[in-house]
Amino acid sequence: MDNQRRRLIDRPVVSSSDAADLTSVRPEEWPPYYIAHVFCCVNERPPRHKRGCCAGKGSRQLCDYMCRRAMAMGMKNIRINHAGCLNRCELGPTMVIYPHGVWYTYSSEADVEEILARYIMKGTPVERLLLRPDEGPRH
Ligand code: FES
Repeated sequence: MDNQRRRLIDRPVVSSSDAADLTSVRPEEWPPYYIAHVFCCVNERPPRHKRGCCAGKGSRQLCDYMCRRAMAMGMKNIRINHAGCLNRCELGPTMVIYPHGVWYTYSSEADVEEILARYIMKGTPVERLLLRPDEGPRH
């Protein structure tokens, strides 16, 4: 838990001068290329699909908002990507943030602001938006 509470933005990232040192380190121990890599599901399904979809709940607009806000907040070395279905559709909109693989559900710009300001900037999980590993169907 201490690792998750560390500020993500304080994590070391790979620089070109590190490249030679990495040859003696196992790949799974390499520092991340991005300090935080966010994948927002923007999958779209037909209306009334039994699983619903994140795009139908505004995920594309909220993901784009997150990108703009991260840039405006001066966050460097993070990446926010549109993603296909993350297979937790009923709980969406969903996002997963690496390197820790922390999942969130969100539905407003205020939720996005809180995830950026508290989790990515300070390393403090936003408890009310977390998706637990045991939530959601495993299809
Ligand atoms: S449609 Fe977003 S998780 Fe499946």
